[in-house]
Amino acid sequence: MKKVLVTYASKTGNTKKLAEGIYDGLQDADKTILPMEEARDTKDYDVILAGYWVDKGGPCAEAKEYLGALSGKKVGLFCTLAFWPDSEHGYGAILAGEALVKEQNHVIGKFHCQGRIDPELIKVFEKMPDDNPHKPTPEKRKRYRISENHPSAEDIACAAQMFSERIAYDV
Ligand SMILES: Cc1cc2nc3c(=O)[nH]c(=O)nc-3n(C[C@H](O)[C@H](O)[C@H](O)COP(=O)(O)O)c2cc1C
Repeated sequence: MKKVLVTYASKTGNTKKLAEGIYDGLQDADKTILPMEEARDTKDYDVILAGYWVDKGGPCAEAKEYLGALSGKKVGLFCTLAFWPDSEHGYGAILAGEALVKEQNHVIGKFHCQGRIDPELIKVFEKMPDDNPHKPTPEKRKRYRISENHPSAEDIACAAQMFSERIAYDV
């Protein structure tokens, strides 16, 4: 049975929620879930499923460091972000994580989805002057509203199924 570590960096809980759903959905695995700060020792695991929140278009600082230190593992990556996942920014955010691990590890899969934007952050954006690039527009407000439901049960099920399949078939 594969030894699988699910680990995550999460500031406001979205990536933690996704990580917990992936962990719960893993079948036939000897599995452990830990936040990244408690998951430094990876020697006992065959597969590392590592998740991060997106900051400046890529993995948050904690995840950057963590992913850069992984070596000789099968790695699955997941992240949550505010932008549309199917945008250049969204694809870039997950590819930036892959770039950190792919030379030293074998990447078995990647998953990214929207994460609820912290309402406190939206309040800060709303107070910004009109010429600030973070100032909400009607379009952005629609994206914020949609983000409230993510990661959704469907996002979580999709990620859990993909990683379970990739691990079961030893991809
Ligand atoms: C300081 C900060 C920077 C962020 N930068 C980005 C970004 O560059 N791109 C993006 O799509 N989302 C960005 N976000 C949104 C978060 O990545 C998103 O809400 C994510 O789901 C948070 O995950 P968490 O709840 O696990 O912390 C940022 C959020 C914060 C607080």
